[in-house]
Parts: sequence; structure tokens; C-alpha cells
Amino acid sequence: MKHLLVLNGPNLNLLGKREPEIYGNLSFEDYVTELKSRFSQVQIDYKQSNSEGVLIDTIHIADKYDGIILNAGAYTHTSIALHDAIMAIDTPVIEVHISNVYQRESFRHKSFIAPACQGVIAGFGLESYAMAIQFFFNR
Ligand code: DQA
Repeated sequence: MKHLLVLNGPNLNLLGKREPEIYGNLSFEDYVTELKSRFSQVQIDYKQSNSEGVLIDTIHIADKYDGIILNAGAYTHTSIALHDAIMAIDTPVIEVHISNVYQRESFRHKSFIAPACQGVIAGFGLESYAMAIQFFFNR
């Protein structure tokens, strides 16, 4: 059975309440429950942190996973340290975003982590996560 980690960064604990016109009305806890029943042949762990250091520490010890689905939130656009953490591990990482960051402010167009990731999925709402899980499942 594939073992995957869904790792969410800053402000994503507020999904369901935060800017619902962009991010929707569903809490991530409810979405993870839905993902686990949709992908019952995959073991899905979920972690969220608002702290860049905790995200980095989590990535460092993620070698037991077959893949990481990472929504680094705003750290995507700022963090060389997250880029380096992803480069330091063998576990493949897919960068995901709920919104289409390329339709938004120009400061969201730059990703520091994308060059370290296997691929990027953005703009499909919460379905972006399911698409990444499907990729690892098919692998
Ligand atoms: C986001 C896009 C980022 O630009 C933003 O800072 C987020 C959420 C998304 O999922 O669309 O926090 O990663």
C-alpha cells in the first residue's frame, strides 16, 4: 500500500473560513476524510503547520513516505530553505495549490520550491490534492 503525506503550510488551517471565494467552504479536515474514503487503497497522513521550520523538519523525516503532496502556501513564493529541504530528501514531492496562482498577484507567480519538485498542480480547487494522490497511486 502506498503511504503518502499531505503537508499544508501557513494559513491553510483556516480553509473553509479563509477567503472562501478563492479557497472554498470546506475545511481541510473534512476534505481529508473525503480523500481517505476516495483513495481507500492508499494510506494518507495529513499534517499542517504555520511554521517554516516545522515544515522543514517534517520533510527531513519523510523518507518513510512514497510521496509528499505539499501546499507550502505563501512560503512557496519566499522559501529557499524549503527548496533545499526538498532537494535533501529522496522522497518525490508534488507542489499543489488550490488556486491558479498564475491568475493572481505577480508575487504568486514565482515558486522557489517548483524546481525541487517532481511537478506542480495548481488551480483545480481542492481537487489539486486528489490529482497529486492519483499520480502517486498510479506510479
Ligand atoms: C496557495 C496559493 C498561495 O499563493 C497562498 O499564499 C496560499 C494558498 C493555494 O493553495 O492556492 O496560502 O498555496
